[in-house]
Amino acid sequence: MEKIVILTGAGVSAESGLGTFRDEGGLWSQHRIEDVATPEGFARDPALVHGFYNARRAQAAQATPNAAHDALARLQRIFPGEVIVITQNVDGLHEAAGSQAVMHMHGILSGALCSNCDHRWPAPLEMHVAEPCPACHAPTARPDIVWFGEMPYGMDDIYDHLSHATLFAAIGTSGQVYPAAAFVHEAIAAGAKTVELNLEPSAVVSNFDETHFGPASDIVPAWVERLLRAP
Ligand code: APR
Repeated sequence: MEKIVILTGAGVSAESGLGTFRDEGGLWSQHRIEDVATPEGFARDPALVHGFYNARRAQAAQATPNAAHDALARLQRIFPGEVIVITQNVDGLHEAAGSQAVMHMHGILSGALCSNCDHRWPAPLEMHVAEPCPACHAPTARPDIVWFGEMPYGMDDIYDHLSHATLFAAIGTSGQVYPAAAFVHEAIAAGAKTVELNLEPSAVVSNFDETHFGPASDIVPAWVERLLRAP
């Protein structure tokens, strides 16, 4: 039984028109992380943070999956239950391409979370400061996004998947944010083969057995084809 564990980052959605974070002109060159991606930033100026995520939510709502998302969904269909997609992305493009049970370790733009009672509900396209929680009715709604300094979601399950991986692929991520950047070490410890697919070498490229560089919509379908043809 194969266990293919795939980690994706912003690079897999770049060709769907969604910006990455650290490339030239990326999101972190336009906004300060401490203002829009920390609990302290949200406490300081919730309207600014809601505005940032409202813009990203609107952009993501217009985006469509690209051939990389489609290829990963195809791989899951062909090997049901053996392909785990863990994404750092907060768009819903893996699901839109047909991927199942996607693990959103950094949350998702389509989710809202109550800071008071932890209730979750589908986020409206535009969230505002006084958004009341449907459960406790307090005006404490926030985007269901994991901010810097907060614990990513699903880590126990993620480490369990990695400990049983036979193949680990990191796709479209710069390898600069932990714990995701260290997943390759967990996969190596499990004896998995490791592959990096990215536009350019990531910060952790030296840890991978195999690398493929180029646009995700080219290299990911080609990689999946080779996997399917492998004996
Ligand atoms: N095809 C493949 N890779 C691409 C493409 C493309 N078309 N365009 C860009 N890339 C690569 C870049 O070379 C870069 O290595 O995608 C990577 C994007 O890196 P980042 O912008 O750092 O995004 P990511 O690695 O997903 O960031 C991780 O950081 O700020 C946090 O929570 C945020 O989830 C995010 C996390």
